[in-house]
Amino acid sequence: MLAETVAVALWTMLPAYIPNNAAVLFGGGAPIDGGHTYDGRRLLGDGKTWRGTAAGTLAGVALAIGLNGLSDSAAGLFGFDLPTFPLAGAVALAFGAMLGDILASLVKRRLGRARGASVPGLDQLDFVVAALLLAFAFAPEWAVDVFTLPVVVVAVVITPVLHLSANGVAYLLGLKQEPY
Ligand code: CTP
Ligand code: MG
Repeated sequence: MLAETVAVALWTMLPAYIPNNAAVLFGGGAPIDGGHTYDGRRLLGDGKTWRGTAAGTLAGVALAIGLNGLSDSAAGLFGFDLPTFPLAGAVALAFGAMLGDILASLVKRRLGRARGASVPGLDQLDFVVAALLLAFAFAPEWAVDVFTLPVVVVAVVITPVLHLSANGVAYLLGLKQEPY
């Protein structure tokens, strides 16, 4: 059933969705690249900070733990099972989301794009792809069980839509410089 696949995909990807928003809210301070440049361009730029990365990862893991407590009642409400997150899976999704975003900045700087510039596709999918890869690497049995092909396909299709909506809201609230 499509509704069930969408619900499971959203639920399971939530610990990967929240980190970016938490990083926007709590980020700032020392940049990860320490101001270093390569070929005259910043390695990552001032938009990738230690604090934002730590806050994002912690927020994603905390959310996964919260969802674990809710999964039984949510399953009762919806009428189908929703997965719980083992710690390794939670950390992989949350940190993977941050890592994907960081790697995208690395790519963007090498392409000569300034901080905040958009690269359609990369911006919306970097964190999903990295979160899924880390989940399969660090919690393989769980990931194989939860991320079935339909769930992965749905996650890849709906994530860009959700991501763009969330960034639009963050922009309207003055939390982000660009609406994407
Ligand atoms: N942020 C952070 N640490 C991260 C990711 C994000 O501190 N690892 C904060 C920064 O304040 C950043 C804001 O969240 O400016 C928005 O994140 P994002 O859009 O990913 O960064 P950009 O500033 O657009 O930079 P880039 O072009 O490198 O993506
Ligand atoms: Mg950006």
